[in-house]
Amino acid sequence: MKTVLLQADNANDVALCGDLLKQGQLVAVPTETVYGLAADATNPDAVSAIFSAKGRPANHPLIVHLHAKTAVNDWAVKVSTAAYALAEAFWPGPLTLLLHKAAHVSPTVTGGLNTVGLRMPAHPVLLNILQQQQLAVAAPSANLYKKLSPTSAEHVMVGMQGKISAVLDGGDCWFGVESTIIDLTQTIPTIVRAGPISAAQIEAVLGRPVAQPRQHNVAVPGNVSAHYQPEKPLLCFSHEELLLHLPQQQQPIALLHYSDAVDSAKVTKLKMPTPATAFARVLYQSLFAADKLPVSAIWCELPPDTDEWRAVNDRLSRASSNRS
Ligand code: TXA
Ligand code: MG
Repeated sequence: MKTVLLQADNANDVALCGDLLKQGQLVAVPTETVYGLAADATNPDAVSAIFSAKGRPANHPLIVHLHAKTAVNDWAVKVSTAAYALAEAFWPGPLTLLLHKAAHVSPTVTGGLNTVGLRMPAHPVLLNILQQQQLAVAAPSANLYKKLSPTSAEHVMVGMQGKISAVLDGGDCWFGVESTIIDLTQTIPTIVRAGPISAAQIEAVLGRPVAQPRQHNVAVPGNVSAHYQPEKPLLCFSHEELLLHLPQQQQPIALLHYSDAVDSAKVTKLKMPTPATAFARVLYQSLFAADKLPVSAIWCELPPDTDEWRAVNDRLSRASSNRS
């Protein structure tokens, strides 16, 4: 299959993207978090093709991307006031709500679960396609299973060229890490994946505490500990550990760092920006870049263990080879 590269600033390309989705084709689309591999969520054959293209196990649930807040009621039942309040506060945007699924929602989408993940994406071009076509798309990140999530059309092509009909190039993603996921089917709302929307922001809307387990929840298929991995081994070190290990390093390595005081002859340095939001925006693309260098491993200076860095630290721990 030839994968066509479409441009988000070309009206014909955008219209073609909507037509392809309506016809049950797979199209990688830009979102504000990472690129998604989209298929019409009401077409189980199209949704199945997502799993084949990614090499993803069939029991890993997908997120359904909605054209409007009101579409929640088309996909979920027993929707709580908390869910409406969060959708009102953060949609369109990078927050996924886990809710009880409506009867018609295909188990292909939910990995056989009775819950469904819903979000309304903020990328204007994608939103426009969903609204024009009155479409909901199931879309995981547009990477091969366990690999780095793509934040540019070029990086989508690395894994998906020849496997999907088209990639819609909408430039680099704003957030660079996947949406926050909150499970609203539990007595206490529980964050199951850290992301751009923090627990504190959610608590401010709900007026009550939410749970945020330190260890991510591996009970749900798909929320696995080894994930988002570059080809080369990634090792994460505190600043003190770097100062200790760098001078002894014999093999060439790439180093993602944000402090200044790190240096060694064997190291190709990639300076990471701060604060955490800027770091997150370039995290995956920096790992892609480091992977291409003639190095034997990628090292990363660990950010502080604070709330604002939670999404970044979660992705680093899943991407690294020395995770506990
Ligand atoms: O930002 C994002 O969320 C991106 C963009 C494309 O929207 N999508 C994304 O999808 O990250 P994916 O499939 O790579 O990760 C979604 C994760 C799944 O791995 C699974 O753990 C969780 O969401 N998930 C989805 N539906 C669920 C459900 N019904 N119950 C529990 N977890 C669910
Ligand atoms: Mg993913």
